[in-house]
Amino acid sequence: MEERLQKIIAQSGYTSRRKAEELITKGKVSVNGKVVRELGTKVKPSDEILVEGNIISNEPKEYYLLNKPRETISSASDDLGRKTIVDIIETNARIFPVGRLDYDTTGLILLTNDGDLTNILTHPNSRVPKTYLAKLDKVITMEHFFSIKNGLEIEGRKVGVSHIKIKKKDEKKGTCFVELTITEGRNHIIKKLFAKLGYDVTKLTRTHYAFLDLSSLLSGEYRTLTKREIVELYKYEEVGRHDRKNRKNGSSRSRNRLS
Ligand code: URA
Repeated sequence: MEERLQKIIAQSGYTSRRKAEELITKGKVSVNGKVVRELGTKVKPSDEILVEGNIISNEPKEYYLLNKPRETISSASDDLGRKTIVDIIETNARIFPVGRLDYDTTGLILLTNDGDLTNILTHPNSRVPKTYLAKLDKVITMEHFFSIKNGLEIEGRKVGVSHIKIKKKDEKKGTCFVELTITEGRNHIIKKLFAKLGYDVTKLTRTHYAFLDLSSLLSGEYRTLTKREIVELYKYEEVGRHDRKNRKNGSSRSRNRLS
């Protein structure tokens, strides 16, 4: 199938669609050895695309939803030779994780070779909701529960929590499970949130990513996304745009989900 050149460049993750258009008009892009400056140019999967001398992959897009097991790395490769989540997926496509989960965190993570979608979902303005179930080394006090609910500052920035619930308390063992939904993606953010109040997160699972949930996926299992799910995930581009527009117009309210 033929696609617009700027779309293919953005999908490869090389840069955004707007920057790709700039590069094309500046004459930095060639197709099969010929410089192309026309924005509407269509390319086939077999065409060789070079951007600033770098080969751009035009392979078909693949999308996977994995229930990440513990002790796996959320990257395409690891310097220490540890198992990566990319190793779990049986494909020859050059897929990579969308965002990351810690080595000891389990649960939902997307993998794809669609750089365009990855950029949309990982952009802070897209505000993709992510729900985690955290096991704590102590039973959380109500005071601490409400300070997280009201937005605790981590490294100078408040962490917005749109949902928080104590799922289980074991007074005898002195542990509890807390479920919470956040839209940001700073590294180790859940552990930092609880650590600030003196709790250790002894187990962490991401149970929901956007509208996707674990459903029947067991640890280490994965499935491909449906066309409809891919279309729905692309709608987070609109959320980001809406958010930017709101901030430009001085409105502090921003949507975090398309209904
Ligand atoms: N927050 C964390 O602390 N770890 C994760 O893996 C994800 C969110």
